[in-house]
This record gives sequence, structure tokens and C-alpha cells, in this order.
Amino acid sequence: MQNLIDEAKDILIKNDRGDFTVPSPHLYPHLWAWDSAFAAMGWAHIDMDRAQREIDYLLNTQWENGMVPHITFDQAHLNDYFPGPDVWEHPLGSTISQPPVWAMAVEYLFKRGADEAWVRSTIDKIKKTHDFFHTHRDPQNKNLIAIAHPWESGMDNCVAWDVGMDLVPNKIRNELKRVDKEKVADAAERPTDDQYLRYLHIVESLVDNQFIPTVFKTYDPMMTTLLVLGEEALARVCDKLEISTGAQARADKMKEALLATQTDSGYYTYHNAVDDKTYNSPTLGSLFPLLVDAEFKTNSAYPVLEKHIGEFGLSSHQIKDTSFDEKCYWRGPTWINTNYLFSMIDKRFKEYSIDLIKKSGFREYYNPLNGDGLGATQFTWSAALFLCMVNE
Ligand code: SER
Repeated sequence: MQNLIDEAKDILIKNDRGDFTVPSPHLYPHLWAWDSAFAAMGWAHIDMDRAQREIDYLLNTQWENGMVPHITFDQAHLNDYFPGPDVWEHPLGSTISQPPVWAMAVEYLFKRGADEAWVRSTIDKIKKTHDFFHTHRDPQNKNLIAIAHPWESGMDNCVAWDVGMDLVPNKIRNELKRVDKEKVADAAERPTDDQYLRYLHIVESLVDNQFIPTVFKTYDPMMTTLLVLGEEALARVCDKLEISTGAQARADKMKEALLATQTDSGYYTYHNAVDDKTYNSPTLGSLFPLLVDAEFKTNSAYPVLEKHIGEFGLSSHQIKDTSFDEKCYWRGPTWINTNYLFSMIDKRFKEYSIDLIKKSGFREYYNPLNGDGLGATQFTWSAALFLCMVNE
């Protein structure tokens, strides 16, 4: 085990760009928001000052309206990633956000000895990033969160987005450059060109509509759950610091709305706010509300989790469903961050993660049926969350 711990630390150190950590050196050469928050949690086991610096840099990317962009460019690597500033039509980064896991990361650091004055300095910024979601990502005032782009969920090609993506034209004014496909062993591990055309159409449409979501807006039980968890983490930190933020009340309101979206199948629903249709999709994302249900063991979604467990762990899609694809990104593979989050309610997912890493190293994702490593190598959050899991 010690050599894996050393290897995990080495990956963070190699992927360190001073103030932020790249997700992987080749495929993702910039800062990604939720990757950075998970990286900070890993840094807490190496160097707490560096962990705090990661969060500072991340929160300083925040827009005036509170949005933390999902990508902040490293200007030295603009040619190594597509799409860049010319497509986003923004010099510094992307114009959408990503799951707000930074409050969880700050609480994690606080519990492990981060400086109290520093924790205090993050509170207003975190509250503002949460406010961004409440204000700009709830177009039908449901107390739930609708993503503006599949990339905003972090689960880019999750089967649940097919419904909204079908309504998005696959026509773009920019040129499509699939730099990513050349950087993985097999292009079938990445989203398709048709999906990329639609992703880019959404980006162009955001530019054309003052960043107001129009062609794609899908209420997402995973994104809502992660904001509930974020508000709850913020509330606990603020309680300790004797600061009042109203975060728990906001979490409670969302939780009530979220838990009411469950169907008889156990899965929680998605809602497409473009054509106003509610639907089910057998994804891991639609089981996320379990993470905020204190009674999760009696929740009808709990036994459904078993349908997502292959020999090597928790699949991002129900294994027997016809859309399941064991190799393709978020359409079936196992990810260490979702394993980590679900290990909060079931310790098996920690064991699965450690076994996967022993077998296939610190990969971006893994085949849940045979444990093969997929996507990028030397992947930051796999290393960072491994450090968290072995230290708990
Ligand atoms: N995850 C996306 C990519 O693969 C963008 O955030 O590049």
C-alpha cells in the first residue's frame, strides 16, 4: 500500500502547476473546477498550505455573478486543448460551471487543521457560488438545479443528456477539432463527434444569448444533490465559526423538492426545461439523492444501486440497460469520485476503489466489468481521493 500512497502523492506533485492542479498532464492541461476541489482534498494529506492555495485560486476564478467557470485556461497550453478561448469567446475560461463540491472540500480541510482565518475568508465566495446556481440554474423555480450544458454536470455524455441533446442541432460555426481522441488509447472511450457538435452548438448559443441557457437546460438530480451537500457543508462550517448564512434552510428546501422527484422505479427524475418533459434514465446520477436522505437504507433507490455494481465496482449506468457501454466515459465506466461520494453511505465503494487502483493504477475511469483502466493516465482526482480514502 505504501508504494501506492507514494505514487498518488507523486501524481499530485507532477500535476501541480503552482496554484492549481491539472486533472491529467496530456488530456486536460487547464484547471477544471470540480477536479480542483477534489485535488485540494488530496493535497490536505501532503501539504495543507498547498491545499488552501488550490481552493483560493479556484474561488478567485469566480465571475461577478458568482459563477466558478468549469475550465480556467492555462494560457501556456491553449493549443493543447479544444475548445479554447476562441470558441468560448472568453479569454480566461469557459462560460458554464461544474458541480459545486468546493464547500465539501473546505470543510474537509477545516476538519484536518486548515487555518481558521483562511476558512473564514472562503465563506462569502462559496455562498456566492451557491447563489449563482439558485439564481441562474433554476429556470422554472423548482428549488432544483438545471444544468446549462452536459459539461456543466461533469458527466459529459451521460445517457440522461441524450433527451435534451436530441433537441440541440449538430451544426456549429466554429471548426470541430477532436484533440482529445488522439490522447486516449481508443477513441471509443470518448464522446462521439455528433455529441461534440451539439456540445459546441450549446456553447455558441450561450455566447449568443448573454450566457442564458436556451437550447439545453436539464434538471439534474446529481447536480441538485451536490448543491444540497455543498450547502450542508457550508452550514456546518458556518456553525463552527458562528456565522449565519441560511445555508441549511436553502439545503432543506432543495432536499424536499429533490426527494419528491422519485418514481416507482426508485430512480429520481430528470426534467427537460426546453420541452418541459419529465423522464427517467437509469444512471448513477439519478441515484445521487440517496446521499442526502438520512433514511437512505429504507429508500427504494437503495436496492437499485445493486444494478449498478459490476465485479469491479459502481457503474455510471445500469449494467443491464441497453445503453450501458462499459468503455465509454460516463455511459458505463466506474469513476473514483462517484465511488468516493457513495462510500459515504456504503464502505464497499472505498474497497472497490482501492482494488481498482491496485489492479490498473490511477486512471481517469475503469471498466466496471473487468477493472481495465480507461481514459487518461496519472489522473489527479483518482490519486487525491485515494489519499482521502486510505486516510479515513
Ligand atoms: N470533460 C470535458 C472534456 O472532456 C470538458 O469539460 O474535455
